Amino acid sequence: MKIVIHGGAGSRKGSAPHIHDALKEIYLKAESCLKKHSALDTVIYAVTLLEDCPLFNAGTGSQLQKDGRIRMSAAVMDGKSEQFSAVLNIEQVRNPILIAKALIQEKDRILAAECATRFARAHGFAAYNPKTKERVKEWKKRVGESGMGTVGACAVDRKGCLAAATSTGGRGFERPGRVSDSGTPAGNYANAFAAVSATGIGEQIVNEALAAKIVIRVSDGMTLLRAFKKSFHEVRNHHYHMGAIGISRLGEVMVDFSTEKINAAYRDKKKALVVLS
Ligand code: GLY
Repeated sequence: MKIVIHGGAGSRKGSAPHIHDALKEIYLKAESCLKKHSALDTVIYAVTLLEDCPLFNAGTGSQLQKDGRIRMSAAVMDGKSEQFSAVLNIEQVRNPILIAKALIQEKDRILAAECATRFARAHGFAAYNPKTKERVKEWKKRVGESGMGTVGACAVDRKGCLAAATSTGGRGFERPGRVSDSGTPAGNYANAFAAVSATGIGEQIVNEALAAKIVIRVSDGMTLLRAFKKSFHEVRNHHYHMGAIGISRLGEVMVDFSTEKINAAYRDKKKALVVLS
């Protein structure tokens, strides 16, 4: 039983005690959820907590796009059933990851834009404005990308089942209609061998097909460590900016990034809690 969470990778300067404390609190809640629940339920729970925390660029506190609107994307993959579901550019919902989860049962498992929002309303998800003053201020300054904030979680439960969930407000200041990696297998992937959630510049993550590539490498026999090392060697050779967290069915945990920083929390081999921020 293990879980690893992230709150984005990027180039934010200085230490961030508030992010450290938020990650620690969310990690401990998610860890205790995993004692009683499946990996799938736990990663969904962890990501809803991260979405509800305005410090991160997902759910409440999502970045605004060029036209001043927030369009969010989220994906979940159950490693047991190998089902991927996602929402892309959904608007006016509190927890995009819960809509992605609701889609796991559906025949059409990836919905975009107003059709995704309509699906949410039809399934009882109330209208909610995720805009915060802080993000509006950034948008007015045309800062766009505030550097860090996509969120994600990967877990392996007591039955050895894996799951990954990822949610984002996007790159910030992007053209409406742009599709984020977080709602694709490049940003979020899991099967019976490993689960990976990525963060960083979406276009570059898609070029690398990062999450799916790492998971497939583990399926083909690499250790999670080796799969991360090889994949991030390729990322660095391309001078790309991204990070990822992962977990294997054997309980190996990996965090790697080519950015200056990553926000992440996990337990090391001696079971000490590690919080990177
Ligand atoms: N990784 C988040 C995005 O670029 O949309």
